[in-house]
Amino acid sequence: MFGSFCFPRFFVYLSDKKKRMRLRIALASDLPDLQKIYVGTIEEICIQDYNQQQIDVWKSTVENTLRWTAMMNDQLVIVAEKNNKIVGFGTLRDGNYIDFFYIHKNFQRQGIAQNILSQLETHARKSGNFNITSDISITARPFFEKNGFTILKEQKNLRKGIELINYKMEKILQ
Ligand SMILES: CC(C)(COP(=O)(O)OP(=O)(O)OC[C@H]1O[C@@H](n2cnc3c(N)ncnc32)[C@H](O)[C@@H]1OP(=O)(O)O)[C@@H](O)C(=O)NCCC(=O)NCCS
Repeated sequence: MFGSFCFPRFFVYLSDKKKRMRLRIALASDLPDLQKIYVGTIEEICIQDYNQQQIDVWKSTVENTLRWTAMMNDQLVIVAEKNNKIVGFGTLRDGNYIDFFYIHKNFQRQGIAQNILSQLETHARKSGNFNITSDISITARPFFEKNGFTILKEQKNLRKGIELINYKMEKILQ
């Protein structure tokens, strides 16, 4: 799997709230858990910013097996675990593009995203990149702004005839 040759398979973090969190590279067998988090977070968290039609179109992309398989094979996929349960994941494509980034609906605001992002940024920097980019949802925008990302443009994406707004964002790596 991408990145496993240059990353230790396990690395431990102690979050701000002093709860033990383990970050590790994803295994192929993690895929069903990642997909559950993806759907659950979209349904329960992103519903604050998107209507039901938009949520339905967005979460239906979990059925795109080719895209998910390519993600697991070609990207750096970092998962966060608490008590041996996966509570979030983030992925890096082509060394500096954040593709997937979702935290379990029951584990929001515990610093999990912060720790995953920090690892993705470290990897992007070590790979010689000067920036990191992503297409960020309305829901995730405040988190990324807090972490030094700026908006390059607002985007209106048409999926199955339904419009979904997101933002092309970038952070210049120091
Ligand atoms: C955005 C998201 C990743 C944040 O994950 P998280 O683990 O809850 O974030 P963290 O706990 O690491 O947040 C760190 C800091 O970022 C800021 N932050 C996070 N979420 C925020 C929000 N919704 N509004 C404002 N600030 C926010 C806060 O400053 C927070 O620190 P605090 O909790 O001490 O105030 C999560 O809410 C999520 O999964 N959202 C849906 C994901 C999504 O839309 N993905 C699409 C691709 S981008």
